This record gives sequence, C-alpha cells and structure tokens, in this order.
Amino acid sequence: TMENLDEILKFGKALAEKAGEEIKTAFLQEKKIETKAGCADLVTETDKKVECMIIDEIKKTYPHHQFIGEESVAGGLKCNLTDAPTWIVDPVDGTTNFVHRYPYVAVCLGFCVNKIPVLGVVYNAISGEMFAAIKGKGAFCNERKIQVSKETDLKKSLIMAEFGSARDPERLDFVLNNLRSIISTPVHSIHCMGSAALNICAVASGQAEAYVEFGIHCWDYCAASVILEEAGGLALDTTCTPLDLMARRILAACNMDIAQGLSSRLTHIELPRD
Ligand code: IPD
Repeated sequence: TMENLDEILKFGKALAEKAGEEIKTAFLQEKKIETKAGCADLVTETDKKVECMIIDEIKKTYPHHQFIGEESVAGGLKCNLTDAPTWIVDPVDGTTNFVHRYPYVAVCLGFCVNKIPVLGVVYNAISGEMFAAIKGKGAFCNERKIQVSKETDLKKSLIMAEFGSARDPERLDFVLNNLRSIISTPVHSIHCMGSAALNICAVASGQAEAYVEFGIHCWDYCAASVILEEAGGLALDTTCTPLDLMARRILAACNMDIAQGLSSRLTHIELPRD
C-alpha cells in the first residue's frame, strides 16, 4: 500500500488537537489515578479515554492501519510491530505532569511503514505547540521550521534526562550514577521535563543539546524520533548505534559529537523488550 503521508499528517494533527481538547478539559479537574508497573507509574481515566478515542478515529478513516497504544498494551494487548502501516500512540505522555497540573503533557502519534517511523505528531495540549514531521520533509512547530542546536561541546550543553518510574534501589543506583556521570562532565545542567516526547522535541527545537533515558517505551519516542531527525538531529540507541524502537532506550542528540560524548559517559543496561 502506498500511504499518502501529507494526508495522514493533516489527519494526525486534527486528531491530536481533538485529543488535546479532552486533556485540557480534564487538566484542572479532580482525577482518578491508578498505578501500573509501580507506585510512580501512573494512569488516569483520561489516558484510557483519549487512547480509545484516537484508535476509534483512526479505524474509521484508515481501516487497514494497525496500532500499538500505551494503554492497550497495559490492558493486555501485544506490542506487535509488523511491516503493515502502524500507529504507535501515547495518548498522554507526561501522565505524572498531568496528575500534578504541571503543564507539559503531550499527545504522541507515531506512524511506521515497514517498521520504520515515517511520520510523527507531538502535541503539547496545554501550550498548544504542535510538533510535526514527515520523513524527508523537515520538522515543524506550529508550521514554523525547527532546527537542532549547533553546539558540539558537551561541556557547553543542556541535557534532558528523567528519573523514570522505577523506584527499586538497584535501578535507582543505575539511573543516579548515569546522572552523576553526565553532570560531572561538567555540563551546563540537566533538566527533567517529565515527558520523553517533549524532551526530544526540546532537542529538535535547539532548546537543549541531548536527551537520554533507559526504560521508556516505543510510544514515548516513536513520534518524536521522526521530528528530531527531520530537525537535523540524531535519534540513536544509547550506544550510538541505530535506534531500536523496541529496546526501550534512546539517546537523542543535536549531532554526533554530543551523542558520542554523552554515550561514552553512560553505563548501558538492557531492558525487557517492548
Ligand atoms: C513517561 C514520561 C516520562 C518518562 C517515563 C515515561 P507516560 O511516559 O515520558 O518522562 O520518564 O519513563 O513512562 O507514562 O507519562 O506516558
């Protein structure tokens, strides 16, 4: 099947806006919060409702498309990426932010053909920033072209990172040792925005030089990886090899100097695949 990516992008942006409306409405209201894999892995009714809405709308318009969705996988569906046109969906990236009314919450719609991400939409539902890209056609934020930072010196860099949602001591040692190693480069600072996708979009927009995280999932980085690459950046595995969508780790960087400098300072772990 030949997919019309321009048409799909238009559809994806409208869908993200519709999902964003739901998120914005619920943002300041009382929320029903549940936990998933651990005490800091949160999900709300809005995550589930928005994912259902997104999947229903896609099915109506593109009946031959497949899906991988964060809450569908949490509900027991398999994370099965085939060569078929497949959407990889995170209805609310930054659920912890959403719960706390910290205004960095994004709808992520990634689209893969032959297992390659070819289109991405990341919509900050609170600020109204719409990040979007089609492979080969540049990256945009609200129709304005975006571009990565030209900095090549890791010591002059701002790095995005996260604590992640695991709280067991062994994993925390791993995460904190890597953060210590990064900050003592020394870099200018480490920021945590609380959304993997928005961290990657910050790198794509030239607002930070790199982002690294272990333990995230394909729906957290699929869409944003297209945006970053189209903004001139690199979406890589943490070892600086090609990105593996199911390996649950990413190194997003503005260029190879920054990527290699950062990668060499990290300890790398393998996680159970998506
Ligand atoms: C989370 C966010 C967060 C990252 C976690 C993710 P969610 O996604 O992207 O920044 O540190 O690892 O799980 O659960 O809010 O979609």
